[in-house]
Amino acid sequence: MKRTKIIDALRRTDYGSEIVVKGWVRTHRSSKAVDFIALNDGSTIKNIQIVVDPSKFDTNLLKNITTGACICAQGILVESQGAGQTSEIQASAIELYGECPSDYPMQKKGQTFEYMRQFAHLRLRTNTFGAVMRIRHNMAMAIHTYFHEHGFYYFHTPLITASDAEGAGEMFQVTTLDLDRIAKQGGEVAYDRDFFGKKANLTVSGQLEGELGATALGAIYTFGPTFRAENSNTPRHLAEFWMIEPEVAFMDKTELMDLEEDFIKYCVRWALTNCADDLEFLNKMIDKTLLDTLNGVVSEDFVRLSYTEGIQILQEAQQNGHKFEFPVTGWGMDLASEHERYLVEQHFKRPVILNDYPAEIKAFYMKKNEDGRTMQGTDVLFPRIGEIIGGSVREESGEKLIAEIERRGMDKNLYSWYLDTRKYGSCPHAGFGLGFERLLLFVTGMQNIRDVIPFPRTPNNCEF
Ligand code: 4AD
Ligand code: MG
Repeated sequence: MKRTKIIDALRRTDYGSEIVVKGWVRTHRSSKAVDFIALNDGSTIKNIQIVVDPSKFDTNLLKNITTGACICAQGILVESQGAGQTSEIQASAIELYGECPSDYPMQKKGQTFEYMRQFAHLRLRTNTFGAVMRIRHNMAMAIHTYFHEHGFYYFHTPLITASDAEGAGEMFQVTTLDLDRIAKQGGEVAYDRDFFGKKANLTVSGQLEGELGATALGAIYTFGPTFRAENSNTPRHLAEFWMIEPEVAFMDKTELMDLEEDFIKYCVRWALTNCADDLEFLNKMIDKTLLDTLNGVVSEDFVRLSYTEGIQILQEAQQNGHKFEFPVTGWGMDLASEHERYLVEQHFKRPVILNDYPAEIKAFYMKKNEDGRTMQGTDVLFPRIGEIIGGSVREESGEKLIAEIERRGMDKNLYSWYLDTRKYGSCPHAGFGLGFERLLLFVTGMQNIRDVIPFPRTPNNCEF
């Protein structure tokens, strides 16, 4: 007989029919008269209850149906008597696909997430990680749907590049040279003999190639992995994370902020509509304010604030006795996540789009304002997260862009293809990058970015 997914079995009301379900045992409670097996197959956070008359089954078989075991259960679908359940199954036959010995690391309830991270290959079978991964999938669907419906083309940018899109030098090198041998011989590394004939690295952002797409197709977005060799051991940084980068020709700063706000609200709304069961679970188990926070974000206008005004607010807070771990030193400083969160959580109690940052703390490609000191950057700051989106209007003047690249001591030759967009039919354009895992942190209420990606990569950690 064909198996029914548990999500569908729980919706069926054709009581009295035969049904087959397959999945992993969450719990097995037995008594003399009756056994209850809670079964989950990953299709939903909810389990289906298998009701077993122990007198009709082999005792050894029942003994081996422990937490984590994989079974196939056949029986009659019946209306559940238990509160909060819809349908359950009166078992007529059970096949044990895979036993689960008692050293199963996910057996006990209430393990810490830190403990579970050592078992990233098994934690996916827990309620929390099941919920997070289903939401992760749904957010990816929301993103593709949003851009498709708004006329953006999905544009594939390379993962291996020879340039540094952010100019921050935080790159993983890609080489096929035998570095061990070169080190032993004490020789120079001849990159012209490396695979690509020059030094190559994993990309930190698809933006520069994205700009090539946008200045031809009008509006594109990328959605792929990016890599940063920054030694940041924080709950918000990964060495490998997924980024969404839309880029749009003829877009100005106001339109860019409109897009950032509309897009992220769409994603959160999508989660509220399509992930209700999983969000309800996370709201109960992880963060009791989760649903309120999500509903708040979709219903309120984001504050739009210049960096200069933001610094003034932070300075006043400090003067009035607010203690920041990193003191607010004044205009020109880079904001830490505690500063961003102060603006969002304490001062405005709403998301903030901070814009017009000092040129010195932002990337080389941003459009300079008339004042010569600030650039048209537009970062979206979120409660619990801090920076969730980094965006900007791009400098469209080739002359100014080259001057900035030279001022920063970057190698102009590595960007010749990029600079061609400014040489041939240059156009005003803008775009942003959303960190996919930061969005997931926000939507799931999870505290640590390592817990919203199946197999996290962080300094000193490359397991699985
Ligand atoms: O602010 P960032 O560095 O901006 C860029 O990369 C631009 N090229 C984007 C663009 O304009 N097309 O990164 C963008 C976002 C951040 O706001 C953050 O959400 C996320 O990417 N991010 C990280 N997420 C996880 N781990 C890290 N190490 C991250 N670094 C940035
Ligand atoms: Mg940034």
